[in-house]
Amino acid sequence: MLWQAHLIADEKVCDVNSLQTAVSIGDLVKIREILAKAVLPPPANLSSAEANLFGLANFFTNDPETSVSLLSTVLRRPFGPYHLAAAKNVHWVLMASNSKGMKVAQDQIELAFRQSLSRSVHVKGSTVYDLTMQKRICNHEMYQRHRHPGQWAGVGVKRWKVQYFDLLKKSITNFLYRDINDWAEQMISASGNPSVCQDSSACESEWDISQGASGFDGHSVPEEGHSVMRLGSLTHIQFIVEDVLTQGIPGDLLEAGCYRGGNSVLMRALLEDDDSGQRIVWVADSFQGIPLPISEKGKRVDETRNWKSRYNVSQHFVESVFRRYGYLDQKTKFLPGFFNETLPSSGISHLAMIHIDVDAYDSTMDVLESMYPKLSVGGYVVIDDFHLNAVRTAITEYRSKHKIVEPILPVPSDYVFSCTANLTARKPGEPVPRHLDLVTPLSAAYWKRVE
Ligand SMILES: C[S@@+](CC[C@H](N)C(=O)[O-])C[C@H]1O[C@@H](n2cnc3c(N)ncnc32)[C@H](O)[C@@H]1O
Repeated sequence: MLWQAHLIADEKVCDVNSLQTAVSIGDLVKIREILAKAVLPPPANLSSAEANLFGLANFFTNDPETSVSLLSTVLRRPFGPYHLAAAKNVHWVLMASNSKGMKVAQDQIELAFRQSLSRSVHVKGSTVYDLTMQKRICNHEMYQRHRHPGQWAGVGVKRWKVQYFDLLKKSITNFLYRDINDWAEQMISASGNPSVCQDSSACESEWDISQGASGFDGHSVPEEGHSVMRLGSLTHIQFIVEDVLTQGIPGDLLEAGCYRGGNSVLMRALLEDDDSGQRIVWVADSFQGIPLPISEKGKRVDETRNWKSRYNVSQHFVESVFRRYGYLDQKTKFLPGFFNETLPSSGISHLAMIHIDVDAYDSTMDVLESMYPKLSVGGYVVIDDFHLNAVRTAITEYRSKHKIVEPILPVPSDYVFSCTANLTARKPGEPVPRHLDLVTPLSAAYWKRVE
């Protein structure tokens, strides 16, 4: 525990303002120094602002236990301005440190989120999401090359290449052909700000991590969109593949659950940089959509049971997408059929990355059971749907059964939690901004295999 000393808030033994600044800039050394000198009263005596801030700070100094205890103090109090910030923080602390208490955190967040939507409050407090590409969450060597704005495709990489991948993602997400008027409407209703996207040129330059073919509601993907993934998630996949190639992590790439194939196309395009020339992108899908759950557990936990859209796309369609992008070749291999039937006999020997985007409990388990043992040390598992109970349950169970301890990290693409949603602008009784209404609190996650 980090309660080596006690903060006497009144006497300002710990400079809360410096801590706030240090947390905001993700200055871990400074946070450590401040906390080492701090003299803290019992959590009950801290204000919510302090409890949230110290909770967050303790997370960064690797003390999740204290962190959760402080953050939970805020959550147990009547709903207030720091509630949402603390709820966000507690979730990621638990998720990044271990999976115990995950369900509790999820419930707390959902509750806090619902409450925040039903009232007009000032939302305050730093969250891990304010630290964008900083420290523990994003302080992974693979991000180092990508820190500078405009250079997401790699520092030192030729400009045309940056532009090529940008263009590819603009095509996959249908950004190029999106109806600007419709988009402007969505932006205005989501932000509650009539001056957002006022003219088409402002809207046309809104190419940020939240962009995806499905728009703000996260559902209907227009025919022109080749993936449901947003720019943030696609770019994260790009970081990972680039890291795998740079580090020489052995193995192929697998996308389990490809839908229209856009993300698999991106993975294949990135293999142009594979010096070995040996790697393959495996594209595994039923091409009949998400199956209904079979296992008893699946039947209990699966959200997909009642989904109308099951992401049913034919192999013929996906091959056609690959052909149009120019990547239907010997480096792309399709595995048509249900994972439990295709993966065990796929002939895959080593993988450097497994992208799991399957939405269901049985499907997630099937992929992990067949494929995780093939993942090289240094390779990555990326889980697109960590917000779904079914997926999270399967991941948690598998990790605990196989004693996997590598921390699960959030994919820094979570627009909603990183955006500064302007809840304060809303008067009581005013409608909830559209994207907040529909948003799920969690998003994609990943870990890197170290043993
Ligand atoms: C959400 S979509 C994938 C989205 C895709 N990654 C993208 O970039 O748009 C889920 C996909 O998983 C596939 N799927 C789910 N469970 C499966 C299973 N057990 N076997 C084969 N395919 C499965 C579905 O057919 C569907 O194409």
